[in-house]
Amino acid sequence: MRASEIRSLFLKYFEKNGHTIVESSSLVPSNDPTLLFTNAGMVQFKDCFLGKDQRAYTRATTFQKCVRAGGKHNDLENVGFTARHHTFFEMLGNFSFGDYFKKEAIHFAWEFITAELKFPKDKLYVTVFKDDDEAANIWHKQEDVPLDRIFRFGEKDNFWSMGDTGPCGPSSEIFFDRGEKYSCGKSTCSMGCDCDRYLEFWNLVFMQYDRSENGNLTPLPRPAVDTGAGLDRIALILQQTDSSYGTDLFQMIIGQTAKLTGQAYDSKAELAVSFHVVADHSRATTFLVGDGVMPSNEGRGYVLRRIIRRAIRHGKQLGFKAPFLHKTVSFVVEQMKDAYPDLIEKRPFIERVVLAEEEQFFKTLERGLSLLDEEMAKLDRTKTLPGEVAFKLYDTYGFPQDLSAV
Ligand code: GLY
Repeated sequence: MRASEIRSLFLKYFEKNGHTIVESSSLVPSNDPTLLFTNAGMVQFKDCFLGKDQRAYTRATTFQKCVRAGGKHNDLENVGFTARHHTFFEMLGNFSFGDYFKKEAIHFAWEFITAELKFPKDKLYVTVFKDDDEAANIWHKQEDVPLDRIFRFGEKDNFWSMGDTGPCGPSSEIFFDRGEKYSCGKSTCSMGCDCDRYLEFWNLVFMQYDRSENGNLTPLPRPAVDTGAGLDRIALILQQTDSSYGTDLFQMIIGQTAKLTGQAYDSKAELAVSFHVVADHSRATTFLVGDGVMPSNEGRGYVLRRIIRRAIRHGKQLGFKAPFLHKTVSFVVEQMKDAYPDLIEKRPFIERVVLAEEEQFFKTLERGLSLLDEEMAKLDRTKTLPGEVAFKLYDTYGFPQDLSAV
């Protein structure tokens, strides 16, 4: 099943069950200074959970653009190294604003994955918050999930918050066992292990509280439901690929990048990490610039600048000697334009912004590299670059620290 089919199957299933289909909101949250980027499907509904906004519907469903780089949910450094982390991804979600709660949320999720997606039940596990007997009972009694497939975890894994403040609550996650061959091989590897074997692909949050700056939890006016399923993760499971980079969401982008640089892509070779980083960061860059974020030295713009620079650094590993990212972002537009038609019109703007940033950074790299060469020529046999030189390269020239490592 292609990613586009998964998106529409999801929306149709929830529409059939009384949910209004709502469009993805911008990656820049409107009127919310507490968040750097939209990091989950619930962000555009924050005020509905808090009881400050009334909509014409009490059930909604979306596929939402998300960025998790900077801020509370930050996956930037994992990207390229795991099968499942991304800076940009799409989250499928269903939401209830004081309408249904745990029983229905669990039933919808289970029916969708076992009857619509036809995931084999013997590959599925669920988790609940440690004290949430109610959710555990619903999984077991209502959906027949065996007790030994229901795990209980604490705050870190099963209590979800949008940010340091705002709506939050206990959660219940659904995992797919990808099998022994994806295990880290440690004797401790079992459900909940951080490796790529047990893949968490859907989180059901039972929104019950508003967290204030001092950490106090105030009950919400009406308990609510917020769920988030990673489209790329569902595609990975259905398309049985080694990582989300093997799915149709990424393959065209990676294939075109390989053609552009003249290096073959092999998902198991060392260079794969750089292909993955370039593909992931090209997606984040496309959507962030498309939503009006401009590279700069502070706030959102600074996170975007870091993403672009990291992509360029990995592009250099792939053999690019001149600006290339403005081309890989156009592969992203090609891939995503059916789901996000606004990208077609924004494409020339996105390409221009990215090219200007690339040109500037390539110059920075050249200046940094000549200073690095000068300093390295002065080094004694210890080959240790003085800390102040590494700092100057980084601070004055914006030269990435890991490029200075000799
Ligand atoms: N809002 C639920 C999640 O992002 O997992």
